[in-house]
Amino acid sequence: LGLLAAGSASVVAGVTGWVTGLGAPASGGYPVTGDQPLREPLASTSNNGALAVSLTAAPGAAVAGQAGAGLGFNGGSPGPTLRVRPGDVLRVRLINHLQQPTNLHTHGLHVSPERNGDNPFVVIAPGEVFDYEYRIPANHPAGTFWYHPHHHQYVADQLFGGLAGALIVDGGPDLGAVMDRVLLIGDTTLDGAGRIAAVSAMDRMMGRQGSLVLVNGQHQPVATAESGVPERWRLINACTSRVLSLRLEGHQLTHVARDGYFLPVPEVRDRIVLAPGNRADVLVHPAAGRHRLLTDPYDRGNPGMMGGMAATGSTAANGPITLATLVVSGTKSRTASPPGALPAPVLPTGPVTARRTVTFGMQMGMGGGGMGFTIDGRRFDPQRTDQAVRLGATEEWLVSNTSPMDHPFHLHVWPFQVLGTSANPVAEESLRDVVLVPAHGWARLRVTFADFSGRSVYHCHILDHEDAGMMATIQVAR
Ligand code: C2O
Ligand code: CU
Ligand code: CU
Repeated sequence: LGLLAAGSASVVAGVTGWVTGLGAPASGGYPVTGDQPLREPLASTSNNGALAVSLTAAPGAAVAGQAGAGLGFNGGSPGPTLRVRPGDVLRVRLINHLQQPTNLHTHGLHVSPERNGDNPFVVIAPGEVFDYEYRIPANHPAGTFWYHPHHHQYVADQLFGGLAGALIVDGGPDLGAVMDRVLLIGDTTLDGAGRIAAVSAMDRMMGRQGSLVLVNGQHQPVATAESGVPERWRLINACTSRVLSLRLEGHQLTHVARDGYFLPVPEVRDRIVLAPGNRADVLVHPAAGRHRLLTDPYDRGNPGMMGGMAATGSTAANGPITLATLVVSGTKSRTASPPGALPAPVLPTGPVTARRTVTFGMQMGMGGGGMGFTIDGRRFDPQRTDQAVRLGATEEWLVSNTSPMDHPFHLHVWPFQVLGTSANPVAEESLRDVVLVPAHGWARLRVTFADFSGRSVYHCHILDHEDAGMMATIQVAR
């Protein structure tokens, strides 16, 4: 408790990026656990059609209660929540105070990938500044997106360090929620000296799973709510490589949106599975008492089987992990009123003009004897064009997976409809931007390359795999 008191004195909301709560905790013990109120990053909200923010990526952010351990934007991990509306212009000045190159990706946003838009090929060297401009279409869906660095070979380390933030497109229907929370879930590991731990080659191969799973940068915070007062939770899987299998004790979750796109009808669920990069918007009807938000272990398969190695998954947990506790006061009965009609999803239409297959694979002995992570047998080369697509075309892609491990497929800029996977061969009636492709399995998807031409990427969102080369380029042109 002494730690908490010391931490609260050092908060200056505009500087640290935190609206309320305790701000950067003092050093001297971590993780700080158990009774801190859940904080939310400061929100920067657009005004008159524009939002201009500057984000400084730098070491020195508090992570899991350890001051200075992590990487942050404007001193915070997560960085500020950016709130915009359809039709807005979002300008971000990114200032790189890291020791490494970096850049910024607006994950899931349907904006131009060219020039200073959502361009993953931008390189911002240490000490440099870059001005991004994202023109959000007037018909952009309202929903939950996020931002994180995307410089190939540094993405996993920079996210594991804490560089991520929520990006909310406001608007959309009134879902009857009184409270709107962002829960950005990340993971990391601190070493004995309270720094971000070094990562073993095995963990890079498996896709590292941090020993600490954090909500808004906090370890096991406490959220307070009132019974009968419905809440909207925007769950973001910002873990580097961990699949989350979420449940809230004593509650069902009403799933209304996935990856920023509404479902055709709300679905009441006991569990929400989020691959790295996925989001879910859920309605929660708090019931009196204390309830833990948990993630259960999720078996992604085992790449170590490739070479006959027994990969132990040293950082994988064997049991449920507590992410946060919801403490609900009051006695009002639960009014689990349905949210009403959701906006009809706009699915890809028009004749399918091309069918493609892309194959996720792993091979022993690439590049000096280690495990190679490939798409179509090749490692990422930013100069090479892997798919040439006509602007406006509707295509069907079969993503096949020849490896003994699940890989989350992610495509930038253009959301897709899942037509089925080998685990669940049923078409979804909504859009998304990350789908888990089962080990030795497949996913089929349909996508319209609408609105924006330019060069972008698709990749495995186990970011250790992406950094090892499991990424490819797409060129969309007239
Ligand atoms: Cu969230 Cu290309 O990534
Ligand atoms: Cu992305
Ligand atoms: Cu992968």
